[in-house]
Amino acid sequence: MIRHLLKISDFSKAEIEKIINKAVEMKENPNKFDSTLKGETLLMVFEKPSLRTRISFEVGMQQLGGHAIFYSIKDSPLGRKENIHDTAKSAARYVNLIAARLFKRHDLWDLAQYAEVPVINMLDDFAHPCQMMGDFLTIKEKKGRLEDFKIGYFGDAYNNVTYDLMRIAAMFGLRLDVACPKGAEFLPEQVVLDEVSQLSKETGAKIEVVHNAFDAAKDSDIIYTDSWMSYGIPIEKEEERRKIFMPYQVTQKIMEAAKPDAIFMNCLPAKRGYEQTTEVIDGSQSFVFDQAENRLHSQKAIMLFLREKF
Ligand code: CP
Ligand code: NVA
Repeated sequence: MIRHLLKISDFSKAEIEKIINKAVEMKENPNKFDSTLKGETLLMVFEKPSLRTRISFEVGMQQLGGHAIFYSIKDSPLGRKENIHDTAKSAARYVNLIAARLFKRHDLWDLAQYAEVPVINMLDDFAHPCQMMGDFLTIKEKKGRLEDFKIGYFGDAYNNVTYDLMRIAAMFGLRLDVACPKGAEFLPEQVVLDEVSQLSKETGAKIEVVHNAFDAAKDSDIIYTDSWMSYGIPIEKEEERRKIFMPYQVTQKIMEAAKPDAIFMNCLPAKRGYEQTTEVIDGSQSFVFDQAENRLHSQKAIMLFLREKF
């Protein structure tokens, strides 16, 4: 059976740990892996913009001895000229892996259903599993463990990154307070809450949606935020959203309400003065560039795993 990574819970907790451990090994000794995907090709399909994801996958594939193709479908969206099934079936005849950053989850799922090679989600409207792998590698490095901690998340909760953060926190039995404005536009979708509640039953995780930022910060080991203006949100919405999300901005006071050794995380791109103050993102508790770097190491491990190389 072909495995895909469409959301973080497509992998088990044991598989996530195995991939993170491999990423640690690959980060320490990259030369040992420089031919592990020799002669292999990754197709990267982009419908939305990217800095980190595009560069880290392309460099990662090159460091493994393989080759990556960047294919932008911005001007000819999937399913318009031919159906997604035909795109998936054709592409899979040329390449060993497909990674895609698409607007709609159903397009991604269709791609995975018909591609006869593993498909990796590089961000849709439902998940960002590669981000979670990099982030949990970062947490392991900074905290020395992947259990027994509390995360406070702040801002937009109707959001791909938030959804996978909720899923992985549930899988690892963590505490996560998601602090966000009231209103369906800003809250997690019911389908995500249901999945998270099911996952939590097995692990004892405590995932809660709250509306007071200081409640979420209290006792947190990790303070996490994401963009208030995700890719695709029209610029006309910016001012209205800025006002709505401002009570959830991560400020130095929020950091002080968390544990003294709390770390600040943001998957980036970030806007200073929006999701967090400049003082916080550029402060000593911030590890946002370690997160960015760890995308590279963890994605290399994900690709090896999906190609059944370990
Ligand atoms: N965090 C992340 O996915 O960044 P990019 O949008 O730059 O790829
Ligand atoms: N929620 C953000 C994540 C960017 C990596 C977005 O969708 O733009």
